Amino acid sequence: MNISNENAIFVIFGGTGDLTKRKLIPALYNLEIEKKLSEKFIIVAIGRRDYTTEFYRKQMKEAIIEFSGDTFNEKDWNKFVIKISYLRFDFSHTCEGYTILDKYLSKIDKENGINGNRIYYLAVPPSSFEPIINNLHCRKMLLNKDNWQRVMVEKPFGSNLKSARELNENISKSIKEKNLFRIDHYLGKEMIQNIMAIRFGNSIFEPLWNHQYIENIQIISSETIGVKSRGSYYEATGVLKDMLQNHILQMLSLIAMEPPISLLPEEIRDEKVKAIKSLRIDHGEKVEDTIVLGQYGESPSHIGYRDEDNVNSKSKVPTFIAMKAYIDNFRWSGVPFYIKVGKGLPEKETKIIIQFKKLPGINHYEEFNNTKPNMLVIRIQPNEGIYFQINAKTPGNEFKVNSVEMDYCQKSAISSNSTAAYERLIIEAIRNNSSLFTRWDELEYSWKYIESIEQAIKSYNYQYPNYVFGTEGPTMADKLLESNHKWYKS
Ligand SMILES: NC(=O)c1ccc[n+]([C@@H]2O[C@H](COP(=O)([O-])OP(=O)(O)OC[C@H]3O[C@@H](n4cnc5c(N)ncnc54)[C@H](OP(=O)(O)O)[C@@H]3O)[C@@H](O)[C@H]2O)c1
Repeated sequence: MNISNENAIFVIFGGTGDLTKRKLIPALYNLEIEKKLSEKFIIVAIGRRDYTTEFYRKQMKEAIIEFSGDTFNEKDWNKFVIKISYLRFDFSHTCEGYTILDKYLSKIDKENGINGNRIYYLAVPPSSFEPIINNLHCRKMLLNKDNWQRVMVEKPFGSNLKSARELNENISKSIKEKNLFRIDHYLGKEMIQNIMAIRFGNSIFEPLWNHQYIENIQIISSETIGVKSRGSYYEATGVLKDMLQNHILQMLSLIAMEPPISLLPEEIRDEKVKAIKSLRIDHGEKVEDTIVLGQYGESPSHIGYRDEDNVNSKSKVPTFIAMKAYIDNFRWSGVPFYIKVGKGLPEKETKIIIQFKKLPGINHYEEFNNTKPNMLVIRIQPNEGIYFQINAKTPGNEFKVNSVEMDYCQKSAISSNSTAAYERLIIEAIRNNSSLFTRWDELEYSWKYIESIEQAIKSYNYQYPNYVFGTEGPTMADKLLESNHKWYKS
C-alpha cells in the first residue's frame, strides 16, 4: 500500500458509532503506526453524545486494545491519540447550524497548518447522507478551490433504483462525482485487487478467459452466522441488497470485464460498467430454473430467521440466493455465472471459481476418465489465496492421473488484518484514486439488475423457511445448474 503525504483533516460523522469503533479508528491507528499518513493528518470525530475529547480518546483506546490485543503499544497510542479530537454536534442542523462545525474545523486546520484539505467520512444512517452533504455545500465546506474536500459514504447508497437516483440527483448540486467516494469495502480487499493482476499479468490465463475455454464461473459467499443483532437492518435489505447488489456484482464485474486500456480509475470503471450492463435481465420462463431463494429455519442449535430479534414472524425476506446469470457479450456468450450467497451455511468463505472446459477428446484415453477439470480458485476471505487445479501423473509404476493443486496462500506471504480493506480505502481516497470506489453508473446498473431479479421472483411463491440453519441451503439450488455442473466444494 502506498504512503500518503497529503495533509488533511479526517472528519468522521458517526464518530461514536459501531463502524468507527470497530473499523475506522483501528484502520487509522494502523496507518499511523505504519507511518502511512502525513504528520499533519488530524482526526475529528463527531457525535451527539456528551463526551469530552479526553473521554472519547479513552473509549477509542479500549477499542484499539480489544482489536490489537497483546500487540497494543502504549508509545504508538500516545503518538496517535493527540491527533484525535471529539466534537459534540448534531448534524441534523440547518445550513446555519453548520457554522459551529466550520469554525471548529477551521481552528483545528489553522493550529495544525493543514490548508483546508478534508475528508468527510459519513459513517451514519443513509438517510443522513443528503442533508449532511447539502449542508456542507451550503456552508461552503466543499468548495474544492485552492485545496480539496472529499466525501466518503458507506453503503447502502439508496434502497432501490428510484431512491438511489433521487439521492444521487439531490446531492449532485452539492458535490461533483469525482469528489464522492462510495464505499464497497470488498473493493479494498487484497484478493479483489489481485483479480486484475491474475487476469492481466499471466499469459496462461487471459487468452483462455472466454467462452471457448471456460465452462462456468462460480461466485460463492457463505456465512455460518445468522443475522445476530442486525434483524431490522436485514428485514429492509435481505440477501439481494445486503450482498448481491454490491459485493457480488463488484466481484463479477472484475472477473468479466474486458481489459481496460490503462489502469487509470475511469478506464477500469468504464469496463466494469459495461460488464454489469451486459448482464441478462430476462431470467427465463421458469424462474426457479434460474433463481432459488431461501430462508433459514431453526436447527437444534440455532433459532430460525423468523425468530431472530426484530424480525417479522412471517417474514418473506430471503437469507439465501442461488442463481444463474449470463453476460450477453462476445466473450461470455453461453457461459453460466453461478452465484450462491447466504447465511446459516456450513462454511464461512468467499471465493471465485473459474472452471475450465475439459480438453476435447480427452475421454478417448481411458486413463483420463476420472480426471477433474482445471480450476482456478480465488479465495477472497477468510483465507486469502489462489489455487490452480491441474492433472498430473501419480508417482509410481502405473500411469494414473490425479488432480493436484498449485496453491498460493497469500496470508502467509503478506500480512493482512481485519481492517486492511478500510486502511486501503482511506489511503486511496486521500490519494484521490477512485478506482476502488463505486461510480454512479456502476451503481445505477447494479440496481437495475437487482430490480430485474425482484421482478422475476414476484411470480414465484418461495415457501419459507426452506433450509435448516447450518446446512447447504435449499436443495433446489442444485437443480439450477446445467447438466454435469456441480457447486464447487473445497
Ligand atoms: N457497523 C458496520 O459494521 C457497518 C458495515 C457496513 C456499513 N455500515 C454502514 O455505516 C453506517 C454507520 O453504521 P454504524 O453501525 O456505525 O451505525 P451506529 O452504530 O448506529 O452509529 C450511528 C452514528 O451516527 C451518529 N448520529 C446519528 N444521528 C446523528 C445526528 N443527528 N447528529 C450527530 N450524530 C448522529 C451517532 O451518534 P450518537 O450515537 O452520538 O448519537 C453514531 O455515531 C451505516 O450507514 C451502515 O449501514 C456499517
